[in-house]
Amino acid sequence: MPLLEVEDLRVAYGKIEAVKGISFTVEAGQVVTLIGTNGAGKTTTLRTLSGLLKPLAGKITFDGEVINDIGAHKIVAKGIAHSPEGRRIFPRLTITENLQLGAFLRKDAAGIQEDIERAYTLFPILGERRSQAAGTLSGGEQQMLAMGRALMSRPKLLMLDEPSMGLSPIMMQKIMETITELKSQGTTILLVEQNAQAALSLADHGHVMEIGTIALSGTGQELMHDESVRKAYLGED
Ligand SMILES: Nc1ncnc2c1ncn2[C@@H]1O[C@H](COP(=O)(O)OP(=O)(O)OP(=O)(O)O)[C@@H](O)[C@H]1O
Ligand SMILES: [Mg+2]
Repeated sequence: MPLLEVEDLRVAYGKIEAVKGISFTVEAGQVVTLIGTNGAGKTTTLRTLSGLLKPLAGKITFDGEVINDIGAHKIVAKGIAHSPEGRRIFPRLTITENLQLGAFLRKDAAGIQEDIERAYTLFPILGERRSQAAGTLSGGEQQMLAMGRALMSRPKLLMLDEPSMGLSPIMMQKIMETITELKSQGTTILLVEQNAQAALSLADHGHVMEIGTIALSGTGQELMHDESVRKAYLGED
């Protein structure tokens, strides 16, 4: 049984249907990526899986349970964490405080402290600056903080929405290396990216979204070598 199963999911904003019946699964331990151009419905999909948007139709099963109508807090408690598009860190709070907020549902102070230290091992720069306001971090460092914060709920599924957005090539590579490291530690990841090359090179499976539908699916390697993907998303002609 897959950890996450999305069946014929449809999501609308008023009368505008942004996701028009998509289906995919994520097996435990896998990295699955959704790629596609602006407005394809990638963020809408993640926000629906997080319980921030209600599906119009379809079925979302997570860890053996249908979670369509469960609120966002309960979904975090079930084990889905979301590092949102644009990071959404709290700029006036310190780095440590931002991480603590990711553990808002937990009561185990010692475990939380342990996980904060783990975040600082994964991202040493965050540890060095732990008492500073998060707003002083660079864009890439804020991305690290957003990922660290999402991990603070000890999720079974980590969802990352465009972690490489707006980053320099070096910082982007660092983020991708971290995702690879999390994968090697057994973290299950649903990765939304416009950087198709980077995402496909580390994903077990990928889905190409186009205006609310999944146009093409395959292993990361298959999609990376698919001619239409290369033309549309990898800048080749
Ligand atoms: N709050 C909203 N109200 C109305 N329409 C919305 C809203 N948010 C998104 N949309 C529309 O839904 C569609 C899908 O948007 P979504 O943000 O899911 O795409 P995306 O694949 O994440 O794009 P991007 O790569 O630019 O982040 C778009 O047509 C968008 O304009
Ligand atoms: Mg988006």
